[in-house]
Amino acid sequence: MQNVKQILILGLLAVVSIGIGLWAGMQGDAARQPKSAGYSDLGGDFTLMSDKGPVNTADLRGKVIPIYFGFTHCPDVCITSLSAIAAALKQLSAEERAQIQPLFISIDPERDDPARVGEYVRFFDPGIIGLSGTLEDVSKVAKSHFVIFEKVPLEDSNMGYTMDHSSIIYVVGRDGIIRTLIHHGETPEAIAKALREALAA
Ligand code: NI
Repeated sequence: MQNVKQILILGLLAVVSIGIGLWAGMQGDAARQPKSAGYSDLGGDFTLMSDKGPVNTADLRGKVIPIYFGFTHCPDVCITSLSAIAAALKQLSAEERAQIQPLFISIDPERDDPARVGEYVRFFDPGIIGLSGTLEDVSKVAKSHFVIFEKVPLEDSNMGYTMDHSSIIYVVGRDGIIRTLIHHGETPEAIAKALREALAA
């Protein structure tokens, strides 16, 4: 049963990913403005809690913000993505990095308080900020980014449950509008390229 359910969820994630892609493509056609090459109806500003206080994305205007949604108990997907983001950051110059503020948002706030998520992301790169909040706050931000996640009970495990979640890096441009969606499995080189393009825009 578990396998069938996982296949269904993976299928659903794929459909959502394709849906966002098609929808974004249509938005691009409708806009017909070469300058606004972004997903202006996706995402938007939010405030969530880090272990050093609240972070409001509106205060980060002018920086490029790669955003990833996940959770600290994740067995592999988040580790792969955060490792790739960290490796991409290492390919950039100190000057480029100073203009980039990566954010990791926990979709498992029940277990990930700001202290835990902060400590977790700094293991990958000290420049990444980990964010959490109430389930309501986190869900609202996830929903505005079309992130889907689901709590899955685990039998025979003292972890209790895991979280299935979509795995996309949202690259927010200096103007606060999402420029690029980086899908799971992209290389650090591809991520670094997307970040440089956002810096140059
Ligand atoms: Ni994960």
